Amino acid sequence: MEKIGIIGTGYVGLVTGVCLTQEGHGVIFNDHKKEMLANLKKGILPIHEKDLPELMKAGLKKGLIDVSTDKKYVADQSDILMFCVQTPSKEDGNADLSYLRQAVKEVAQSMKSPKILINKSTAPVGTARLIREIVRHFYNGQFDVVSVPEFLQEGKAVETFIHADRQVVGFEDDVSDEVKNRIVNLFKPFGKEIVVTNTKTAEFSKYVCNAFLALEISYINSMTGVSEKLGIDIQDISRIMRLDKRIGPKAFLEPGPGYGGMCFPKDVVSVVGIADRFGYTHKLLQVVNEINWRQRLNVAEKIHHFVQKIDKPKISILGLSFKKNTSDVRNSQSKTVIEELLKLGYKNIAVYDPLANDNFKQFNLPIEYKNSWSEAVDGSDCLVIMTEWDEFKQLDLDLVKKKMRTLNIVDSRNLLDKELAKKLGFNYMGMGRK
Ligand code: UGA
Repeated sequence: MEKIGIIGTGYVGLVTGVCLTQEGHGVIFNDHKKEMLANLKKGILPIHEKDLPELMKAGLKKGLIDVSTDKKYVADQSDILMFCVQTPSKEDGNADLSYLRQAVKEVAQSMKSPKILINKSTAPVGTARLIREIVRHFYNGQFDVVSVPEFLQEGKAVETFIHADRQVVGFEDDVSDEVKNRIVNLFKPFGKEIVVTNTKTAEFSKYVCNAFLALEISYINSMTGVSEKLGIDIQDISRIMRLDKRIGPKAFLEPGPGYGGMCFPKDVVSVVGIADRFGYTHKLLQVVNEINWRQRLNVAEKIHHFVQKIDKPKISILGLSFKKNTSDVRNSQSKTVIEELLKLGYKNIAVYDPLANDNFKQFNLPIEYKNSWSEAVDGSDCLVIMTEWDEFKQLDLDLVKKKMRTLNIVDSRNLLDKELAKKLGFNYMGMGRK
């Protein structure tokens, strides 16, 4: 069994580490957040993810989970060091590698014996080489650098890690077969297929996959306006497309308020930046990005259309997280829509999210937080579905009707039964459906 130091206990680090204990490996979580690490030892997690609390508990019980803020201790105690630190995008679109550089430097300064360093942070092509250079500067002994991009999805992180479609493992040319086997064996239980390649391919594959999924979303979103004009329901189009095996049943063709979160918005811009550095203007992905931000404004325009003539309208926003089953509000679509509504002069905005209310408060927006959808829609003039939570899918529209003042719905996730809504007398607008 391996002893693995997880450097950076964010989403990826935490989920990866906890899942590795399932196979009997020992992990040490490292982060600068002392309180968060202390909580981990008590089984208290900083994120909401299905199945993670149970796996965490099992790992703790077996004594496979340790924590430390001290990189020297983590480097001493581990044979493998896995870097899972954030790589946000800078204003010019390039990834900010300062956190990663610093983390590698600190680990390298503490290294006294051969180690395998795995990079899991999404980082540009050449990052494995960069890690190698940094380590070499501080450490003369034997070490290897491996690139293993992460493909898990928030909201179903455990499931998408444990049953990944594939694990991609990138090695430098001079890595020994023994090291290769150890790393392949480490990830084998978690992938239907293991793709062994070089570090550059592994690094670029993560960006290209994310950008492609983002492209699918912007593609279907680009059709919503046209569908509305044609009187076609875009959901029918998505279904027809997904039945084509070349496109596939899981294709990212769910129309909505655009993609959010920490990955797609950042990675699309990063690929444009990478291409630019090599003299290629990636117009396609520039447009993908534009369509995405435009789509959020389209939602605000629909709301404005419904309430503009109402005196002091109350708008109810249901959903603040960037997708369902997570409390993550990074690049939240709701934030953009609410900011636009505030710009348009709307002051009475009530919001509710089953998990993300507290996280959203960091944006300091002048809005009212409610504890249930029913409180949020009380006396409302426009109900807006922003996140596709199951709770909203099952909304009791009869009750909603009794509570609202004016019967307007903007359903940015096409979640509700539009025919029923119309039958009950609601003015209804989805995305790409009349
Ligand atoms: C994404 C990728 O799907 C993962 O494979 C990758 O590992 C991860 O980024 C990452 O780079 O770490 P994630 O951002 O967690 O995962 O969530 P997704 O399920 O991909 O959704 C991203 C956004 O796209 C959400 O706002 C979601 O609502 C939106 N979306 C997704 C759509 O609007 N339509 C779709 O059909 C699918």
